[in-house]
Amino acid sequence: MTHQQDGGAHLHNETHDSGAHLHNETHDSGAHLHNETHDSGAHLHSNPDHDADPAQFWDEVYREKAKRWSGNPNPQLIAEAKGLAPGTALDLGCGEGADAIWLAQHGWTVTAVDVSAVALERAEAHAADVGLQHRIAWLQRNFGPWHPDEAFDLVSSQFLHSPLVPWRDSLASAAATVAPGGALLVVGHHPDGLTPWSGHKDMKDKFFTPEDLVEALMGGPGSWRINVADSRERAVTGPDGQHATTIDSVLRATRTS
Ligand SMILES: C[S@@+](CC[C@H](N)C(=O)[O-])C[C@H]1O[C@@H](n2cnc3c(N)ncnc32)[C@H](O)[C@@H]1O
Repeated sequence: MTHQQDGGAHLHNETHDSGAHLHNETHDSGAHLHNETHDSGAHLHSNPDHDADPAQFWDEVYREKAKRWSGNPNPQLIAEAKGLAPGTALDLGCGEGADAIWLAQHGWTVTAVDVSAVALERAEAHAADVGLQHRIAWLQRNFGPWHPDEAFDLVSSQFLHSPLVPWRDSLASAAATVAPGGALLVVGHHPDGLTPWSGHKDMKDKFFTPEDLVEALMGGPGSWRINVADSRERAVTGPDGQHATTIDSVLRATRTS
């Protein structure tokens, strides 16, 4: 278990300028390495049949490695959620659970959804490690056909890039579950900030700029106030210890009706 809250010193130094925010990560041990495997490529490269069963597809992605992601909460989640009053939160595509756990540790009542039972099993185990197993509702759902009974004060969608689902559909699903007055937070890879080891340079249409997100959100249902539409640079370490800078596209918006 390598969550930032478990005693490991994992430093995030943020330098804020006019919009390009540098995020430098200092790693204290191999176990805390943030390998930026969000863009490792295995899942986006496999060129799947678009009718593939998403649960089976993502289970296989997770089974390829005992631990798929870094185990640390996403830095843009921390940056954006820390200023919000806690309420109910939905983590859409929660993966191995680090964001959901961070939210629960910061007072949110969390529902965490993922299509992969393998990812959820790991997420629940991580939550149990930090004594939060009863604070998070873990749901195995395909978010496309899923229509939750409740709307949420915060909906977070972090790196929900899938070869099976166009990003506009993921955005629409996330936006539809935000309560009036609530916040939508979408973070993903900027097409101009893909790391050399990701192998995604020829697949830029899978990714989005903040401007793409704003345009799609404003063209869809609901009324929104844009709080943040930003491209943020972040220093990352690759699977073989390489260093690079990636760019996160960040959208935070408030649902006004
Ligand atoms: C790139 S991972 C990101 C995981 C996590 N948000 C993070 O930042 O570490 C994308 C996640 O979305 C989930 N996912 C993909 N398609 C989904 C769907 N249709 N319904 C629910 N979850 C889905 C995958 O299982 C995977 O855990």
